[in-house]
Amino acid sequence: MSTYIDQPIDDHAVADIIERLCVQGYKKAVTAALLPQEQVPFARAGFGVERQLVLLKRPLDQPVPKAEQRLRRWRRRRLDQVLDIDHAAFDDFWAFDEIGLREALDATPQRLLRVDTATPPTGYALSGVSRDRAYLQRLAVHPGSAGTGLGTALLLDALRWMRWRGADQVYVNTQDDNERALALYERNGFVPEPGGLAILSKDLP
Ligand SMILES: CC(C)(COP(=O)(O)OP(=O)(O)OC[C@H]1O[C@@H](n2cnc3c(N)ncnc32)[C@H](O)[C@@H]1OP(=O)(O)O)[C@@H](O)C(=O)NCCC(=O)NCCS
Repeated sequence: MSTYIDQPIDDHAVADIIERLCVQGYKKAVTAALLPQEQVPFARAGFGVERQLVLLKRPLDQPVPKAEQRLRRWRRRRLDQVLDIDHAAFDDFWAFDEIGLREALDATPQRLLRVDTATPPTGYALSGVSRDRAYLQRLAVHPGSAGTGLGTALLLDALRWMRWRGADQVYVNTQDDNERALALYERNGFVPEPGGLAILSKDLP
């Protein structure tokens, strides 16, 4: 896998990326999650929709209720147990490998990685704040612990930290068929943004 994080991406940049991937022997190109306007040059180059995502937004102007479960901060040097939760909660397409998780941790100047108090932990949330914007980067609960309020607790805890860090708005995205996650977010004040996001892909010659 190869990751390109460049901006802004125009037709020329897309053609250049495709050429470089072909030279390196890749058989398929997959984008990050893109906003509708960001998808245009990729669509022009023959990319199609691989996965459709819902982008949700929530204001952080009001106090957030306290989480009903005890949680703790988790250290970066013990990411293997967080990856275990992630692999149990997500299918192969979405599950993080260690590089993906580290990239998510480093994506914002401030971040918080929280888990429940079980040993090993059974759920985690990764939040990031950059200036006045917050991002719920990841929320995952092991299927064996789902439906006990842990996802809600991790979410409320994340929202409180984002407010405390001074963020005005929080964004999260999830697959458009992830009804459980969408219900959790909408129950806690998130509203879908028009247009959503999409991951695009193209088979390479
Ligand atoms: C989405 C996900 C995080 C939800 O976690 P969870 O721990 O099951 O969430 P909760 O238990 O807080 O809430 C889920 C349900 O349990 C119910 N629940 C049971 N006990 C509860 C309690 N004490 N407090 C709150 N809710 C409770 C909720 O009402 C809710 O019901 P519903 O979804 O059937 O309407 C989890 O299913 C998951 O990890 N899924 C796979 C990964 C994923 O989709 N991540 C997020 C999108 S990127």
